[in-house]
Amino acid sequence: MFESLPLLPADPILGLSAAFQQDTNPNKVDLGVGVYKNDAGVTPVMAAVAAAERLRLNLENTKAYTSPAGYPGANNAVVGLVYGTGHTAVSDNRVRTIQTPGGCGALRVAAEFIQRAKPGATTWVSTPTWANHIPLLGSAGLTLREYPYYNYATHSIDFDAMVACLNNVPAGDLVLLHACCHNPSGADLSREQWQEVARLAQTRGFVPFVDMAYQGFGEGLDEDAYGIRLLAESVPELIIAASFSKNFGLYRERAGTLSLVFANETQANAGMSQLLSVTRGLYSMPPAHGSAIVDIILHNSGLTRQWQEELGQMRQRIQNLRAELVSALNQRQGERDFSFIAHERGMFSFLGLSVEQVHRLKNEFSIYMTDTSRISVAGLTTEKMAYVSQAIVNVLRA
Ligand code: LMR
Repeated sequence: MFESLPLLPADPILGLSAAFQQDTNPNKVDLGVGVYKNDAGVTPVMAAVAAAERLRLNLENTKAYTSPAGYPGANNAVVGLVYGTGHTAVSDNRVRTIQTPGGCGALRVAAEFIQRAKPGATTWVSTPTWANHIPLLGSAGLTLREYPYYNYATHSIDFDAMVACLNNVPAGDLVLLHACCHNPSGADLSREQWQEVARLAQTRGFVPFVDMAYQGFGEGLDEDAYGIRLLAESVPELIIAASFSKNFGLYRERAGTLSLVFANETQANAGMSQLLSVTRGLYSMPPAHGSAIVDIILHNSGLTRQWQEELGQMRQRIQNLRAELVSALNQRQGERDFSFIAHERGMFSFLGLSVEQVHRLKNEFSIYMTDTSRISVAGLTTEKMAYVSQAIVNVLRA
């Protein structure tokens, strides 16, 4: 039976990393996958994480099963990170949170939960959205439709078109939003725009489904959760999938969380039982190590401070790289204004190149990015800035 399976193309994002590894050009630059790198081009283990790992090694005295929800301590800590202190949804006991294998695991569990809660509901995703949203949610059986989001010509959110579309979303459908650091565009909703989205969710009755993969990479930990916290006080039901891959640098440990807000405590208890049944059927329980690290860091004030400082440095480094890239590109040519890159947030921005130009960058200069010309800004270094910007200008001109 296996002979009937066709060979699939490489993943549009992860496939780039594999191709980059094989490239022998010493000047190669990886702007593909969204992974933070320092100025030496290395994805470091954060010092707070390394310290928490040492503590864990000394303290862990069993490898017995945890539970389908993961560590209760980690879940409590994460609630504070996501909702802030004193949120009414939390004090009303309407929030239920579980650990998941990364943000992808959270999205998948959410999709299964949606199938149980409202089979046939449509989930609306932004155009464009993260390249894995549609395959991941689609393969879980969700019906997907798109709402307009990014205008490639103006390099900004087409908010009027977004609102016009969301105004026609039927009650009970879901709208997938990016909490911050929109992937792939880097264009985030302003506070006023979040308020309008919250108002639409209230009046239309759609359920916001928020993906937060980059909390702390935009403006700050609390600032980046503004939209989530607003929605949690505006609407009765909310789904939040969050990842700790980026903000704790725990990529390969697969640490994430799925948190749901329910209309009341009775529904929350029923919903939690469904979540646990979904996870039991999919993978039984989440991996422990990454969440244990998050738990240790968030329950130790010294480590929390250290982690926040490191995260702030990463955020600042990306902002500096954005500014450097804009000036390097604008110095070398006058036809296109790249200033928009400095106003965007998080790891990503679109350069606005054609697929052919993207392929030339890869083939002639060993500079890797997705075919959409999305770059992971964190993959740049000051040292490589001149090389990368000159190569971009060359493919734009020829
Ligand atoms: C990305 O968009 O590059 C990251 O979220 C990594 C991934 O899994 O795609």
